[in-house]
Amino acid sequence: NNYVAIMAGGIGSRFWPVSRTNKPKQFLDILGTGRSLLQWTYKRFLDICPPENIFFITNHAYATIIKEQLPELSDHQIIKEPSRKNTAACAAYFAHKIHALNPDANIIMSPADHLIMDERAFERSVFEGIDFIKSNNALLTLGIKPSRPDTGYGYIQYDQSRSIENVYKVVTFTEKPSLEIAKAFLKSGDFLWNAGIFLWNAKTIIAAFDKYLPELNDIFAQLTPVYNTSSEYHEIEKAYPLCPNTSIDYAVMEKAQNVYVVPAQFGWSDLGTWESAYDNSEKDYLGNAVHGRDVVIIDSSECMVKAPDKKLVVLQGLEKFIIIDTDDVLLICERNKEQHIKEYVAEIKRNK
Ligand code: GDD
Ligand code: MG
Repeated sequence: NNYVAIMAGGIGSRFWPVSRTNKPKQFLDILGTGRSLLQWTYKRFLDICPPENIFFITNHAYATIIKEQLPELSDHQIIKEPSRKNTAACAAYFAHKIHALNPDANIIMSPADHLIMDERAFERSVFEGIDFIKSNNALLTLGIKPSRPDTGYGYIQYDQSRSIENVYKVVTFTEKPSLEIAKAFLKSGDFLWNAGIFLWNAKTIIAAFDKYLPELNDIFAQLTPVYNTSSEYHEIEKAYPLCPNTSIDYAVMEKAQNVYVVPAQFGWSDLGTWESAYDNSEKDYLGNAVHGRDVVIIDSSECMVKAPDKKLVVLQGLEKFIIIDTDDVLLICERNKEQHIKEYVAEIKRNK
């Protein structure tokens, strides 16, 4: 009864210029591991459920890259979205589609672009979660102990005094708080980061959408007769423009009363930004993380450098900079400004 939906439709704009709209970060091997983040994610779930129960939800434009990276998939395992509507639509669509197939389905929604070091610990946390959601009316997420006041995450306040096994009731869920609030959350010690990996029974999430975003829920409820038939994509193309553009975090997790968390430790990084790639990279004695064959560093420290293998890059006198060189774009940015890369890119696109 366990089904996995790997959400692979984002554009990873904070990882610009390596992550681009035509090949976002989930399809890249950012840290040079020999596999893309998407391939690692698929491999990780093979230990959790049968391969035929693993689905990918993505923009239609990425279906070919997924097929190239994972040729063993059948076409129907790659669920196409006609446009980008963020993760609420994606979660509602998947819930209704799988519910039509198996009304008792347990669903794991997973991002396609995270780094997880300890796969056994990950598996344990997922099974703890499944055990809980299969018999409780619960929306469950995996929580990570925060290490910095990062404003790119959801923050989960949980009641540490009460738990059922390793499952805790969530008191508040705050998506992407301001820096000031993130600092206060971190200091209080009552919060975890939302890892963005959600577990729920199809019925439970459908009920939540019905309550908190009925206009979205109705769209997908009405399509029940066409799921898993040849007219599905045609109907989805008509339905998507009507979907509100919002994330599951804002649409449901912040509002619902039946949210639970499994605190987890599996060497998680969302690899959402160059800062997190820096954190996860090996560094020289001055704290420089270097990706590229021919990088010469003089009097520089705590820099993140990525260069194409064929290019000589020389750095002198820089401290805490991100230098990312690609075939057509060179980015030089202060490390503490990198949360803004998303805005810079949007601005550049507007002006070009
Ligand atoms: N299919 C599909 N369609 N996938 C999408 C879409 C879409 O329109 N938009 C985003 N995704 C995918 C991304 O590729 C990624 O794998 C996942 O959904 C999450 O989207 P992000 O855009 O990366 O979200 P985020 O990182 O800003 O925030 C989420 O993840 C954080 C942890 O990494 C939230 O859940 C936060 O609360 C959480 O802390
Ligand atoms: Mg992300």
